[in-house]
Amino acid sequence: MTENRRFSFGRNWQKYLDDIPPGATAAMQAYVADWLGPSLLGKSFLDIGSGQGLTSLSAHALGADVTSFDVDRLSVAATSRLHEHAGRPSNWRILEGSILDHQFVSQLGKYEVVGSWGVLHHTGALWEALAAAAGLVADGGYLWIALYHRTRQSGRSLVIKRSYAGLPGPGRRVFRAGYAIAKIIKSVIVRRRLPNLNGAYDARGMNWWRDIEDWLGGLPYEVSSPGEVLAHLKPLGFELIRLEDAIAEAGNDVYLFRRTP
Ligand SMILES: C[S@@+](CC[C@H](N)C(=O)[O-])C[C@H]1O[C@@H](n2cnc3c(N)ncnc32)[C@H](O)[C@@H]1O
Repeated sequence: MTENRRFSFGRNWQKYLDDIPPGATAAMQAYVADWLGPSLLGKSFLDIGSGQGLTSLSAHALGADVTSFDVDRLSVAATSRLHEHAGRPSNWRILEGSILDHQFVSQLGKYEVVGSWGVLHHTGALWEALAAAAGLVADGGYLWIALYHRTRQSGRSLVIKRSYAGLPGPGRRVFRAGYAIAKIIKSVIVRRRLPNLNGAYDARGMNWWRDIEDWLGGLPYEVSSPGEVLAHLKPLGFELIRLEDAIAEAGNDVYLFRRTP
């Protein structure tokens, strides 16, 4: 089913940057270094769907020449805020465009490292977007992606997102409050602790409230399994280097692939 509602991730990323959690930049840089550290120094890095811009900022701090792009004008503006904050380095360029736009993609060139964290499943054409991202990786280069893991709850997640998207503004606020309360109760019961509501609450320096808005609003929404992803990328000459599988959580599977030279 084609998704006719599209969430403005960029608006949410602007709010995130207005109130960026303390420690978020350092957290993201440590996360990016853990996955890509040695591969970034002096290398070209493409950030597809750069969102709030923290991955691009981290890759630049780790020594890469960075190109960032996003389809959402407000995400492009958010990434530009971090570019400005970094002193407008000339080896970091920011573009507006879609990974599904063949003409735009054909002008990008090839990159030694291509990253797309939590993006391709929001394009409305996951496999087409994955093939386009793979096509931007130079021989011997790396592809780093995070994709929503398929679970038994994935169908229900889509129903929740569509119901939320169909509400008027005040209804969405009430929905978000109810969802937040349910998440807090679950965290207390399952993890025996409150979630970190004010600081950088996860390894990537995200903000708990902004993540709720991002997750509930995040349409289009598709899911995949590692088996499907491998079946798409192996014939294109990619070997799996590392996988962190979200297993039963409705989170992201994170993959690092290398394109065989
Ligand atoms: C959940 S955010 C992830 C942002 C960032 N990569 C991160 O790791 O936090 C998804 C981003 O993908 C962007 N996006 C969605 N469809 C896209 C497309 N077709 N081409 C490029 N970016 C896209 C959205 O605008 C949004 O900024």
